[in-house]
Amino acid sequence: MRIVHVLGTRPNFVKMALVIAAVATELPDAEQVVVHTGQHYDRMMSQIFFEELGVPEPDHMLEVGSGSHAQQTARVMERLEPLLVDSRPDLVVVPGDVNSTMAASLTAVKLGIPVAHLESGLRSFDRSMPEEVNRVLTDAISDHLYIHSEDARRNLSSEGIPDEKIHMVGNTMIDSLVALEDRFRALDACSGHGVNPGEYLLVTLHRPALVDGPLLFEAVEALERVATRMPVLFPVHPRTKARLAGREAAGPGLKLIDPVGYLEFLSLEADAGAVLTDSGGIQEETTYLGIPCFTLRANTERPVTIELGTNVLLGLDPARITGIPDLIAERSGDRPTPPPFWDGRAAYRIADHIAGLAP
Ligand code: UD1
Ligand code: UDP
Repeated sequence: MRIVHVLGTRPNFVKMALVIAAVATELPDAEQVVVHTGQHYDRMMSQIFFEELGVPEPDHMLEVGSGSHAQQTARVMERLEPLLVDSRPDLVVVPGDVNSTMAASLTAVKLGIPVAHLESGLRSFDRSMPEEVNRVLTDAISDHLYIHSEDARRNLSSEGIPDEKIHMVGNTMIDSLVALEDRFRALDACSGHGVNPGEYLLVTLHRPALVDGPLLFEAVEALERVATRMPVLFPVHPRTKARLAGREAAGPGLKLIDPVGYLEFLSLEADAGAVLTDSGGIQEETTYLGIPCFTLRANTERPVTIELGTNVLLGLDPARITGIPDLIAERSGDRPTPPPFWDGRAAYRIADHIAGLAP
């Protein structure tokens, strides 16, 4: 069996690392080909994840880089197509909801190659989010839909996707966290940044709806106010850094730093007093870790994180940020039982399913 995995961005690497490892152990005769589209390319957005998660070097680098949605999508399709024509895989695996995901699934399906979509069925019901368009399109054309929550099954069913295509496998992003838990728990990364466990707010913000306009500056001003009450540590995504250029405000207590590696980030997350984010993956990781999470968005495609009580939707409203220290004080601090199948074994369920597809 020949399997092509197409990865492009920081969260893709985290979601796929253990899948590649599980397929290698469970299907030793299968040939795995890893294609890196190059959507993310900075060392701290890409290479570091391969090193820390022990993912083999990609077999192909498409080097699509940054660009408009159409440019990025078109470059992935143009560069991936000849490679799929040459190698004629039995399966193409795509994770998540980024442009590389949608472009790769469309390229494969037009060549008649079956597609497996990992992290299928999530819906924010907000088509102004580029990721929502990628999710809906990828799910509509994929053959095997791997889900990690029951709401995903309901969403897919309501779009007319037959149940036999849908497979509850669990959460591979949590697999990666579980696999590295001993290492990141031993790191004590926060002391390297001059903050104490349980006392600081960890921040990540990168969604266009927030950072591509004036709301970003309102958010930074609100964080300056929070920093007078608790230290704030903000590893800044490159999209956000580009938008902030020249206006990098930072009062005492507010530290803006470059993106950090995966181990360091997990250590900072696990020791945080709370997290403020608009990331999808970080809403899930904080749920698993039992860390209070405040999501600066109008909606979430991950309602289970709200239901379990770790995640609170603040709305797309930077003014709410200043209330976070008081909101933390109101939280119970109990670590919830993670959702079913968020257990560190999802990649093995995927490998089992793929094994059943062997010709
Ligand atoms: C992309 C995904 C988003 C995901 C995020 C994860 C899409 C539509 N968006 O958003 O769903 O949550 O990745 O982090 O696919 N840049 C660099 N270095 C890099 C990568 C990006 O400097 O290694 C800068 C460039 O200025 C680029 C900008 O970041 O224009 C945005 O990158 P892009 O990949 O287009 O989207 P993200 O915002 O990263
Ligand atoms: N992450 C990281 N370093 C950082 C910020 C995030 O390693 O400085 C990790 C985080 O632990 C999670 C993933 O990146 O596993 C989330 O990626 P991101 O927020 O970029 O994408 P999203 O999940 O929103 O698509």
